[in-house]
Amino acid sequence: MEKETQSRRAFLNKLWTVLGIVTFAELVAVVSGFFKPAKQEVASDDKDMLIVAGPVDSFEPGSVQAFIRGKFYLSRLEDGGFLAMSRHCTHLSCTVPWVEKENRFICPCHSSEFDITGEVINPPAPRALDLHPIAIENNILKVDTGKLKKRSRFEASQVTYVNTV
Ligand code: FES
Repeated sequence: MEKETQSRRAFLNKLWTVLGIVTFAELVAVVSGFFKPAKQEVASDDKDMLIVAGPVDSFEPGSVQAFIRGKFYLSRLEDGGFLAMSRHCTHLSCTVPWVEKENRFICPCHSSEFDITGEVINPPAPRALDLHPIAIENNILKVDTGKLKKRSRFEASQVTYVNTV
């Protein structure tokens, strides 16, 4: 009986020793992780953020084109001006598709609707779709997807025309 008790005690001692070592190792890992410098965000190359959308003439007035790379829409208004817009709804960030036959963006999540300028025409979206800056050089249109400008509503001054750089 006493031998059995000693054996059990010895087993428990070993068990506690092993658990102590494991706990200590975890503690060392946590503490060293705390003092280790955080991984630095790798800054994306600006060139990666600048998307060459194409020649100005390749976009029909009154049309919207989706760009997978850069995740934006390029709207060409009837007057020839351009807007590059985020595809994220300003309500809760769902991806908003352009519905050609309805001539508007319709959010599948809560049915917000936006016109070709990104202006809200049906809430709950609280404001117009966010904008990316556009540059037109040598008749080639470029969109800076690294920058996103929030706006409360559409204004004519947000439109980029061929003569403006
Ligand atoms: S996320 Fe678009 S309407 Fe709610």
